[in-house]
Amino acid sequence: LPTVLITGAGRGIGLEFARQYAAAGWEVIATVRDPAQAEMLRGLGARVETLDMEDFAGLAAFPARLAGSSIDLFIANAGVSGPQRIDSAEAAGQWGQVHAVNAVAPTLLAEALLPKVAAAGGKMVAITSRMGSIADSSGGYIAYRASKAALNAAWRALALSVAGQPVTLTMFHPGWVKTDMGGPNALLSMPDSVASLRRVIESLSSAQNGAFLNYDGEPLPW
Ligand SMILES: NC(=O)c1ccc[n+]([C@@H]2O[C@H](COP(=O)([O-])OP(=O)(O)OC[C@H]3O[C@@H](n4cnc5c(N)ncnc54)[C@H](OP(=O)(O)O)[C@@H]3O)[C@@H](O)[C@H]2O)c1
Repeated sequence: LPTVLITGAGRGIGLEFARQYAAAGWEVIATVRDPAQAEMLRGLGARVETLDMEDFAGLAAFPARLAGSSIDLFIANAGVSGPQRIDSAEAAGQWGQVHAVNAVAPTLLAEALLPKVAAAGGKMVAITSRMGSIADSSGGYIAYRASKAALNAAWRALALSVAGQPVTLTMFHPGWVKTDMGGPNALLSMPDSVASLRRVIESLSSAQNGAFLNYDGEPLPW
């Protein structure tokens, strides 16, 4: 059975990925920072690991906890939205936290997991955001946009540096999705977003290594 590793799988898009891959017969390794979220995931048959994206030492050591499991697909999904404006010392401090969770953590994990995913000829997917597109910016949410632009730059660089190895790294905007983060006015349901993402991920080839794609597979401007 293929195995998928999903971060931030206790709720939102991450939980929906866990649901759909489990239903499709995959082995699911789901990470949460709050062990209280483990029960629902275990009900899906997932293996649950506790992991906080701000714990860099824990992230670097994480692959050792997966010894014996092969990883065919790594989905770096966990993310935070942060303050809307950088108009106080407190907000400026939160920007650092948003950057750590949204950009540094997924990149550290990708580097750490690279040998394992390459050994399986697998794929790594970052759930980034269209809000990280500088060409396409509509303003606001400065910390979030900057963190996702940084994630895009980091994963693009990593993808180019592993070109030729049997691994594909791709960045996806999941759409505007009805989750705690997306809010109730979002245009897409979690099942529709994730079903589309799964279809596109399944069809990814090495030609899409380093690409920034919409959830329907269309390329997005940087
Ligand atoms: N919803 C949208 O419209 C939309 C649009 C574009 C991109 N995205 C991206 O899609 C991804 C999933 O978002 P979502 O909409 O599902 O958001 P969500 O419902 O707010 O869920 C966020 C997930 O990230 C986890 N997380 C946050 N900080 C963490 C930390 N320090 N350590 C470990 N886990 C942490 C949360 O865990 P806890 O439960 O422990 O907080 C939760 O599982 C994010 O990367 C987001 O930026 C979403």
